[in-house]
Amino acid sequence: MSVPVTDIHMHVVPGVDDGSRSVEESCEMLRLAVGQGVETVFATPHDAAFSDKNSVRTRFRQLREAVREQEIPVALRLGCEMRIYPETAETCLQRLNEGALPTMGGSRCVLTEFDFDNSRQEYLFCADTLIRGGYTPIIAHIERYPNTDLRLAEALKEAGALIQINAYSIADERDPQIRQLANLLLAERLVDFLGTDAHRTDHRPPMLAGGMDAFRRLYGEEYAALVAFDNPRKYLP
Ligand SMILES: [Fe+2]
Repeated sequence: MSVPVTDIHMHVVPGVDDGSRSVEESCEMLRLAVGQGVETVFATPHDAAFSDKNSVRTRFRQLREAVREQEIPVALRLGCEMRIYPETAETCLQRLNEGALPTMGGSRCVLTEFDFDNSRQEYLFCADTLIRGGYTPIIAHIERYPNTDLRLAEALKEAGALIQINAYSIADERDPQIRQLANLLLAERLVDFLGTDAHRTDHRPPMLAGGMDAFRRLYGEEYAALVAFDNPRKYLP
């Protein structure tokens, strides 16, 4: 069996960040994702793309239209990947409150990226700022930050954050430390969502099949269905 997958992290809005360069490329990325079992995609441009917020929204609408015309069987929703530092945490909150940055599909959840050089205390401070402001940070690809471990993931979740890992980190990632941490997080059932963090067709294409196979085999169908399907419906309705 294979559950339909929601990919909550893809740079698929064309021409707004370092992701897809054209509507055609975006459609190709979406077809690649659909071929691996994806049925819903959250388009998550980097927050910098929203300095001209109308252009992101216009291009998102153009992409949706193309997806409809080309009959690609995928539901598209808009979010962003918001990078946060302790010094910018209040500004991030303000941009969310003003609607300058979109939450995930209009929910209270925000895909949140930390800086690789910040400390664990700084990560917790950033998450806490968002939580106190009434948002739920979904920590983007937590397995990739060099100073992450299970304790940090637990502390973030205890504070009220949710956790996303990249599907390719489970089985396809070459860095053994990242692959191992992704698997430890799954073994401890600390992961809430999956993403591909796909950027382009020829650079970081949507890569999901290997990770999903390993997920189901190693951690069970039930947990795979929770992360791939049930959680997105619960938290990102
Ligand atoms: Fe990303």
